[in-house]
Amino acid sequence: MKEQVFNIKNIDALEQVSIAIKNLCNTQKIFIVDGEMGAGKTTLISNTCQLLNIQDKPSSPTYSILNTYFSKEFGEINHFDFYRLKDENEAIESGLDEPLYNGSICFVEWAEKIENLLPEIYVKVAIETLPNNHRLITITS
Ligand SMILES: Nc1ncnc2c1ncn2[C@@H]1O[C@H](COP(=O)(O)OP(=O)(O)OP(=O)(O)O)[C@@H](O)[C@H]1O
Ligand SMILES: [Mg+2]
Repeated sequence: MKEQVFNIKNIDALEQVSIAIKNLCNTQKIFIVDGEMGAGKTTLISNTCQLLNIQDKPSSPTYSILNTYFSKEFGEINHFDFYRLKDENEAIESGLDEPLYNGSICFVEWAEKIENLLPEIYVKVAIETLPNNHRLITITS
């Protein structure tokens, strides 16, 4: 196991974390992004998707559990936000678990909602908000 730790002062400094994640994308597919509400999970994932050169804008105006993008270099990229998922059955019934196993790159917010559907191998990205509003971001791969 390898751990990379970043002390991030502001959103501009997030790029170094996105670069570290991008470097892992050659060998890793599933990235679980953990952190309490407002920690900056979506912000980090959006930044990273842009660095992966997705063809569309990463932000969508309406909430959806799954947003799928495409990158010429990395192929299909999925961004899950399971916050409003009822339970694992809902994910299975709507086929939401399929991209987790189709070889695409997946970034997952609120993965605890689908604990039993997660692949065994994944990278964990933990975001902690510090009292000075910095973010302590730990990537475990
Ligand atoms: N590294 C950062 N430094 C300072 N502010 C940040 C950072 N990352 C995100 N923010 C700010 O924190 C707020 C919440 O960010 P974001 O929506 O990404 O959090 P989240 O963890 O996805 O929240 P949720 O749990 O609701 O999905 C936004 O206003 C964003 O601009
Ligand atoms: Mg979010």
